[in-house]
Amino acid sequence: MEEKIVPDFDIPINRLGTDAEKFDSRKRIFGNESVQPLWVADMDLPSPPFLQEALIERIKHPCFGYTEQSNRLKNAVQWWMQDEHDLIIDHDSILFSPSVVTSFNNAIAAFTKCGDGIAVFSPIYGPFYFAIKNHNRTLVDIPLLLNEGQYLINFNTFEKECIAGNIRLLLFCNPQNPSGRVWKKQELEQLAVICKKHNVIIVSDEIHSDIIYPENKHTSILSIKDATSNSIVAHSIGKTFNTSALNASFVLIHNNDMRVQFRQIAERSHTSDINLLGKIAMEVLFSTHGQTYKHALISYLAENQKVIIARLHKISGIEPMVAESTFLSWINFNGTGLSHTEIMNKLINDAGLGLGGGLFYGPTGNGWFRLNFAVAKSKLKEALDKMISLDIMRCLQNYCARQFFVF
Ligand SMILES: Cc1ncc(COP(=O)(O)O)c(C=O)c1O
Repeated sequence: MEEKIVPDFDIPINRLGTDAEKFDSRKRIFGNESVQPLWVADMDLPSPPFLQEALIERIKHPCFGYTEQSNRLKNAVQWWMQDEHDLIIDHDSILFSPSVVTSFNNAIAAFTKCGDGIAVFSPIYGPFYFAIKNHNRTLVDIPLLLNEGQYLINFNTFEKECIAGNIRLLLFCNPQNPSGRVWKKQELEQLAVICKKHNVIIVSDEIHSDIIYPENKHTSILSIKDATSNSIVAHSIGKTFNTSALNASFVLIHNNDMRVQFRQIAERSHTSDINLLGKIAMEVLFSTHGQTYKHALISYLAENQKVIIARLHKISGIEPMVAESTFLSWINFNGTGLSHTEIMNKLINDAGLGLGGGLFYGPTGNGWFRLNFAVAKSKLKEALDKMISLDIMRCLQNYCARQFFVF
């Protein structure tokens, strides 16, 4: 029975020819279709076998007409949020959505108007920037502070910008992509106080909140007293269970007026529902079996991260940040003294690796690259060998020599 819940993550999966963006678009993205792809945030690890069984079972029925949003589905979401995240929500607060990106775009349309300021803490997931630009809102980019290898929110600058910058909404990522930072309750409380004081709505993208490493605890913004009436949360089964292509996510909104505003926008664009298979997936995954899979996955990913830290820490000039959540390693290559483009070229052309370039996350991502470690351990080791084989040490020595001559 156990193997129906937790697959063997050590067995590498061949995703070629499945239209997987990560693999089948390598030529377009990297100019080279043989790089080992470690970029887009989905997993080269199988979803739970019991999910496949449930989908196959449903597909045996020959009718694929319209579906309703059942109480069973809402119960599953309600149960998962309470059991996994200590968050009590009622059925009315749950709205379904095809994707988290759809949800934060709808939130921008619902709660702001043209020209309004929207704050982000960067480096941040690229589509946050696209959403602000596409809606003709004003970006207020507040870089995170890098302190002893960890990001911190610059509360002072944020509050100053709230006063000066006409900020109507904060597009927030909790836990944070690309760094995997899990915001502490005390940090969220401080953020909530500022937002409440200056009437700033918080749109909290919590898509990465299920994959949390030991000694860290995710706190949803909706569980912070000062944020419950001016925040919305967007979450999904996509990252946790590797089901992004099933387009099944949801939004939680306690505040009645905000919910009405959000629903109007979602209904106008017909983005207030999810597809049949997505609904089935959400219902079977938000279950005790889903929890068993999730915990086994976290253990596997934690081991993978240990391998990364142990191996890359030995190379001076390269510094992986310790991810407190997610399957993404945010790596600082700036110590090599190479430019962003030089590092990228070396990674692609010399090492044959396709990592996510840091500039996708804003200007503060310069010299940083994101490595997706949700792969079979043997594949991860292969990738790290390739990275280590890059003559980064020599680059660093040349860099030191250059500095020596300059000064
Ligand atoms: C922070 C964050 N939000 C949203 C998404 C995408 O979510 P969806 O596929 O539900 O739009 C990602 C995917 O990488 C992400 O990292």
